[in-house]
Amino acid sequence: MTSNPYPLGLRLHGRRVVVVGGGAVATRRVPALLDAGADVLLVAPELTPALRAQADAGRLHWVPRRFVPEDLDGAWLVQVAVDDSMAAASVSAVAAERRIFCVRADDRTAATAWTPAVTRHGPVTVAVLGGGDPRRAMTVRDAIRDLLAVRLAPDGSAGRPDASSGTAGGRQAGRVALVGAGPGDPELITVKGWRLLTEADVVVADRLVPGLLLDELRPDVELVDASKIPYGPSRAQEEINQILVDRALAGAFVVRLKGGDPYVFGRGGEELLACAAAGVPVTVVPGVTSSIAAPAAAGIPVTHRGVAHEFTVVSGHLAPDAPASLVRWDALAGLHGTLVILMGLKNLAAITATLIAHGRSPQTPAAVVQEATTGTQRVLRSTLGEVAADLLAAELRPPAVVVVGDVVDALDG
Ligand SMILES: C[S@@+](CC[C@H](N)C(=O)[O-])C[C@H]1O[C@@H](n2cnc3c(N)ncnc32)[C@H](O)[C@@H]1O
Repeated sequence: MTSNPYPLGLRLHGRRVVVVGGGAVATRRVPALLDAGADVLLVAPELTPALRAQADAGRLHWVPRRFVPEDLDGAWLVQVAVDDSMAAASVSAVAAERRIFCVRADDRTAATAWTPAVTRHGPVTVAVLGGGDPRRAMTVRDAIRDLLAVRLAPDGSAGRPDASSGTAGGRQAGRVALVGAGPGDPELITVKGWRLLTEADVVVADRLVPGLLLDELRPDVELVDASKIPYGPSRAQEEINQILVDRALAGAFVVRLKGGDPYVFGRGGEELLACAAAGVPVTVVPGVTSSIAAPAAAGIPVTHRGVAHEFTVVSGHLAPDAPASLVRWDALAGLHGTLVILMGLKNLAAITATLIAHGRSPQTPAAVVQEATTGTQRVLRSTLGEVAADLLAAELRPPAVVVVGDVVDALDG
């Protein structure tokens, strides 16, 4: 007769877990053990390169030989990750003798413990056992994971990062997350960014964030469109900072959703400082920046072996001769690598003329990528000498990234 398993959450921090086997199964099992802080002893004559890297980095102890019973001295748990069922049986016999739970990759029915299919959602871990059928467990786990992405948030506590850390008078203390939304395709937000977005009470969004992300917010979320805040750029930034601080101090979880990466020409640093000055905790979630994603979407690797050993990301929002410009365009002209120019369309003629005047060849390949990774993406290929004129003729408009360098043609067959 088979009884139901009894679920437990093992707190393995600092506790010895023995893994027998150094192949594909062990490679999959070990990271979660390390994540749980376990003191992992890996017993195997050989290791996969991934496990070898963990051993070399000192994250686990590797004993390069076959299992001997003494390996289980001091162990709380053993995972047998070998195909050879005779060898596995002898490990689990020793484990049973010593009353140590034993997970077996080769034979679930012979194991004294099963590993569940797991989905982690911030501080929440959901573990699913499929009655001995791992595929059933994974199917159920996947369904729960999808549901949690949307549902965990409404009560506003379970999925909130560090939910235990900040309560004021019984009320959840507010906080801010600066989240990079990626360059345009809504699927290019990070998993963490997406999760925080589903948990937000207030979302303060930039003009360039993918609209579809906002479409999926819960109806009760307050959406502040930061691009509609009046006044000049610096006044508007102060307003945004104030909104973040005020909402968070009122107890809300505020997601500041920014195009690309929050710290790449995104003024994320100023927002972080404003929150810090007001004592509001901030989580920063990096994003996929358009400076790399836009070239990639146009088939341009910003570095390519044998072509470019560096890439430089520069803002072109000020003309090269503008007194406030911080860019040494003359020095950039002397580089051989890739130049990625953001916010540079308006000043492109002056920028390209300056680069050429200081020595960059007018024949250098150049490209402009407009609205990269969206359904309206456009790509123009040209040369440094002609790109400014070609851009006007093609009527390209912001947002666009300009790429200069031999990598522009690197993948052209
Ligand atoms: C204020 S900067 C913000 C950059 C953003 N933080 C990032 O990491 O991508 C705005 C500029 O980024 C570039 N940009 C942003 N999204 C883009 C996209 N989808 N396609 C092309 N360029 C984009 C354009 O040069 C635009 O003028």
